[in-house]
Amino acid sequence: MARRRKDDRIHRLRVVGCLDKGFVGTAGRASAAGMGRPPAEPRSPVIACRFHLRGMLSGMDRVVAQQLEQLRTRTSEKWTAYPPDVLPLFVAESDFPLAAPVASALHAAIDRSDTGYIGHDHGAAASAFTRFADRHWRWDLDPARVRSTTDVSVVIVEALRRLIEPGDGVVIMPPVYPPFFELIPEAGGRVVEAPLKRTAEASTGSTDTGDVGYEIDLDAVEAALAAGARAVLLCSPHNPLGLVHSRETLAALSEIVERHGATVVSDEIHAPLTHTDAVFVPYLTVSDAAREHAIAAHSASKAFNLAGLKCAMFVTASDRMSALVRGLPPEVEERTSLFGRIASTAAFDHGDAWLDGVIAAIERNRRLLTTLLAERMPSVGYREPRASYLTWLDLSSLGWGDDPSVVALQRAKVALNSGPTFGREGTGFVRLNIGCSVDVLTEAVDRLARAAAGASARSGA
Ligand SMILES: Cc1ncc(COP(=O)(O)O)c(C=O)c1O
Repeated sequence: MARRRKDDRIHRLRVVGCLDKGFVGTAGRASAAGMGRPPAEPRSPVIACRFHLRGMLSGMDRVVAQQLEQLRTRTSEKWTAYPPDVLPLFVAESDFPLAAPVASALHAAIDRSDTGYIGHDHGAAASAFTRFADRHWRWDLDPARVRSTTDVSVVIVEALRRLIEPGDGVVIMPPVYPPFFELIPEAGGRVVEAPLKRTAEASTGSTDTGDVGYEIDLDAVEAALAAGARAVLLCSPHNPLGLVHSRETLAALSEIVERHGATVVSDEIHAPLTHTDAVFVPYLTVSDAAREHAIAAHSASKAFNLAGLKCAMFVTASDRMSALVRGLPPEVEERTSLFGRIASTAAFDHGDAWLDGVIAAIERNRRLLTTLLAERMPSVGYREPRASYLTWLDLSSLGWGDDPSVVALQRAKVALNSGPTFGREGTGFVRLNIGCSVDVLTEAVDRLARAAAGASARSGA
C-alpha cells in the first residue's frame, strides 16, 4: 500500500462530538494509520450530534461557488439552456471553481499540446482511483481490475449488455436518476420498478446513513427478481434523495441478488460527495457474493464537476467480473477522453482538500435550505441529503400540479428538474441543485416563495 504523508492523515481528521454523551472522538473518511478512518460498521444511531473542526485544521480548502456574472460565461448545459433571467438549479453541474490541482494538470497538458489519442497510461488513472478509494472508503482494490471509459452512462450500458440477455428485466428503484429508464432499454433490457419505500419520520438524522425519508424496499426487489428480473441497477448514493445506503441494507440486497442468481450494476458516481454525517459503503465490499455478481461505476466527474471531460471507471473485484469487463471491445476504453483521464487522475490523487471544502459548502447549503424553507415556504417537504448537492422537494402542497417545475419556471423563473421524470413517485416533486452560492440559493427560494404567495393571493387562499 502506498506510503502516505503524515500531514495527509492530519488534514483528513474530523473531530466528532457527541455532547449529550460527553464524548469527543475522531472520525473521518481517510487516514494512514487507522485513526480517522470510517468505521467498519455504522456507528450507534444515538450519535445525534456531530460537529466538525475541519476548517480549523490545516488542509481543507475554502471553496466558494462562483457568482452569476462568472457562471454566465460558462458554455455548459446549465448555463446555456435558459435565458439570463432564469436561475438554473436543475442539471447536476456545480458552480464551484475547478479544483486547483485539476486546473493545473489541464493547463500543463495544454502547454505541452498534449491533445492526441488516449494511449496507455500504464494504469496511472486506475491507480489514482484505487488510492482515493483506499483513503476515503478503506477499499482495497487492485488497479488491474479498474478500466476507464467515457462516462458512467456508458459503464452502465456496456456492463448491462454483458450481464443480461435481450429482454431481461432490470430492477431500478424510483424516484431515481431519469436516464436509468433509458439506459436499460439501450442495453437491451426491460425496466422493472421496485420503488423506494418511505421510512418512519422519527429517525431523521440519527443514523450513520442519515434518514432522508426513503430506503430500499428489499421485499419489492426480491419480488421483482423472483418474478424473473435478472439484474439490479443500484444508485448508491441515491440520486435524487442523497440517500446513503447502509452496509446492512447493501449486504441484505447482495444476499437477495445472489439467491436469485442475478447481477448488480452499482452506480456510485455520487460517492465522493458523501457528507460528513454519513458513511458511504462500496457495494463491492459488502460480501463475497457482491464481489462475484457486481460491477461498480465510478467517476470524478460529479464531485469535481468534470462531466464534460468524459472519464469514468468500470470497477470489479472478482475474476468473473474482471474477465467480463476485459472482454469488452477495446474501443470502449479507448473512447475515454485524454483530458478526462488527466483531470481525473489529478482529482483522485490531489483533490482531497478541495473536496472537503466543497462538501463543507454543500452541507452549509443543505442547512440553509432547511432554514429558508421553514421561513418562506413551510409547507414544502424536504429532508436534508446525506450525499451530493441534489435535493428532493415535495411541492404538492402548493397546488402547482403534477409537475411543479413547469410552474416554477413560468412564475418564478427558476429552472428545476421535473419530479415525474424520476418516476411516478416524483409526481408533485422537483429536484433542486444546491451546488451553488448562498446568494443564488437564497434568491431561488425567494423567487419560489414569491411565486407561491402570488398564486395563493390570486386563488384567495
Ligand atoms: C446517478 C447518476 N448516474 C450517472 C450520471 C451521469 O454520469 P455521466 O455523465 O458520467 O454519464 C449522473 C449525473 O448526474 C447521476 O446522477
